[in-house]
Amino acid sequence: MNESVTAIKPAPVLAPESIGITPRTCAIGADVFGVDLGTPLDKTTFAAIKAALHEHLVLFFLDQTLSPETHIDFASKFGDMEIHEVFTSLAGYPEVSVLEHDADRPPISDSWHSDVSYRTDPSMASVLYARHIPPNGGDTLWLSAYAAFDALSEPLRDFLQDLHAEHDFLQAYGSYLRAQPDGPERIARAHIETPPVVHPLIVKHPVTGRKLLYVNPTFTSRIVELSKPESDAILGMLFKHLLSPDFQVRFKWREDDVAMWDNRATQHYATGDYYPEYRRMHRITVGGDQPLPAR
Ligand code: SIN
Repeated sequence: MNESVTAIKPAPVLAPESIGITPRTCAIGADVFGVDLGTPLDKTTFAAIKAALHEHLVLFFLDQTLSPETHIDFASKFGDMEIHEVFTSLAGYPEVSVLEHDADRPPISDSWHSDVSYRTDPSMASVLYARHIPPNGGDTLWLSAYAAFDALSEPLRDFLQDLHAEHDFLQAYGSYLRAQPDGPERIARAHIETPPVVHPLIVKHPVTGRKLLYVNPTFTSRIVELSKPESDAILGMLFKHLLSPDFQVRFKWREDDVAMWDNRATQHYATGDYYPEYRRMHRITVGGDQPLPAR
């Protein structure tokens, strides 16, 4: 159940009066007030949330009470839910990944990425629910890949628009998997089940039609049309460009907060600064489409 790729400019959706949407920055992020995600949403409220997601890219719903079932109910309104290759699932709920770290399981999401860009059809959205937050640290940052594209000069945009980049599962997870007891087996399986994929470097968002920069330092391994030194230099420059605070929002979690993001137009970074303390999140990702070339 993916969104239409033909709708370029979504019609404006008016939020019901009971809902408040307060942007956190000009580029990305908004708090949504007056919505209880633990109860069924009416059509108008759902449409307002979807429109806000397309406009603000990351939505924060503070102090929510979700069971695994209501978490699933909410996420599944946006499309088919996925099962992650690496994270363990909540017992009895394969769609709910448990992202759990402590002294024996150090953080592994502390690098910029969009979820599963190594798949042919990366996720369209994620819904993350904070279950245990350490006393200090453990914030998550997101960046707008629209803002990153918009800030590039015209000649550079032109050059990048015909290029393609490889996204590689093992570049990110290879060393983590190798350290697991069944590592060799999982690596062998990854070579067959999740080989590198190629996506356009500049992508057109399937709903808004806006152009965005689609490379991330976690999964993107090379630009296929360039030599290795050229590819390393251009990717290095783009990865540095993506780090501008002007494109970002930083969220300090409290237990029971929910963040939902448009994974197609954002990247995120979960800080690992709380190590060796305990942090636990429940995440559901919703399936998306193959990224579209910008021209
Ligand atoms: C992730 O989805 O990569 C993790 C985000 C987080 O744990 O804050």
